[in-house]
Amino acid sequence: MYENYYGLDSKPFQLTPDPSFFFASKWHKRAMSYLQYGLSQAEGFIVITGDIGTGKTTIANSLLNNIEDDIVAAQIVTPKLSPDELVKMVASKFEIDTLNKTKADILKDLEDYLFKLHEIGKRALLLVDEAQNLPLETIEELRMLSNFQQQGKPLLQSFLLGQEELQPILRAPNMEQFRQRIVASCHLAPLTLEECKEYIEYRLKHAGLKNDSLFSEGAFEKIFKFTNGVPRRINTLMDRVLLYGFLEERQSLDEKDIATVTSEVADEMFRPEEGSDLTNKTPASAEGDNNGVLSDVTADGRVKDVQYYKTMLNELTDALDNAISHKIKLTRYIDNLLKKKYKTYVRLKSDD
Ligand SMILES: Nc1ncnc2c1ncn2[C@@H]1O[C@H](COP(=O)(O)OP(=O)(O)OP(=O)(O)O)[C@@H](O)[C@H]1O
Ligand SMILES: [Mg+2]
Repeated sequence: MYENYYGLDSKPFQLTPDPSFFFASKWHKRAMSYLQYGLSQAEGFIVITGDIGTGKTTIANSLLNNIEDDIVAAQIVTPKLSPDELVKMVASKFEIDTLNKTKADILKDLEDYLFKLHEIGKRALLLVDEAQNLPLETIEELRMLSNFQQQGKPLLQSFLLGQEELQPILRAPNMEQFRQRIVASCHLAPLTLEECKEYIEYRLKHAGLKNDSLFSEGAFEKIFKFTNGVPRRINTLMDRVLLYGFLEERQSLDEKDIATVTSEVADEMFRPEEGSDLTNKTPASAEGDNNGVLSDVTADGRVKDVQYYKTMLNELTDALDNAISHKIKLTRYIDNLLKKKYKTYVRLKSDD
């Protein structure tokens, strides 16, 4: 509706995760690095958790979009599956016929399929989205599937993505065997104010917007405050903001305009009214608001310590991120080198 008015080629704030709109915030970059690191390790589980609407499915789709040829990937997004249903679902995702077959038969067919993949130099990856819905026994079944091996390497690797509720499930005492196979895990936090602004600008530019001063700084702050930096909330709000801009014929929007729209959509989005405490427990809002949780503990000087350790931990995680990216690059380089050497070896052997 508003696309023509703003000269856009497409809708910039669609709710459906679209890899071509992928914005690499610090947390998204980190989660992506972990998934790629997991791929390069070719074994173990990677677990990505995150609050609702923070971008888990988007990350999964982006990963699948950029996956290398030697990996056959399948994605499962299904609520509560029993272990037997999971096995069936995994098999059918890899196009194995499951009709009228027992679980044992399906497992056998799956194993054969994975062996065949291995023989042609490929391997299988399973991305399980909404994994917080899986019962413990089903996660345990996933672990069992990772036991299919050839020359010590698992034939099926799985990545789990899920909301925060996944964490207590994985912490359960009887999940120790699964836990020991997790090679990396990461929690997606909402965007910071700066990232929220970059995210909006990125999506608008990607959709073809030429006007780079559509929003004032105050407008961005208001958007951030209302959405707490959660991408899905940002998308829902921004769609309405652009509609408002079009109806009001505005080529620049400020804080007041955003306030008008937020008051309109607060009810529809089931948000608390303006002025009430929107700064819930998300890390981004706790950091960005000195009147929030942190400032309550100023009396004995603990805030300073908290900030100090937070900064230190942030620096440490940045350093670890860099180390992981470096490791991934190195692993890829070695992989390519090995592939080349192997090809030379095969060629020389056939010349003999
Ligand atoms: N890094 C990102 N780049 C671009 N868009 C994003 C990003 N993260 C999230 N989004 C957008 O935010 C919305 C919600 O993302 P997504 O569906 O991936 O969240 P989710 O964490 O899987 O949510 P849920 O917990 O409900 O499954 C989508 O419209 C998606 O396009
Ligand atoms: Mg999702």
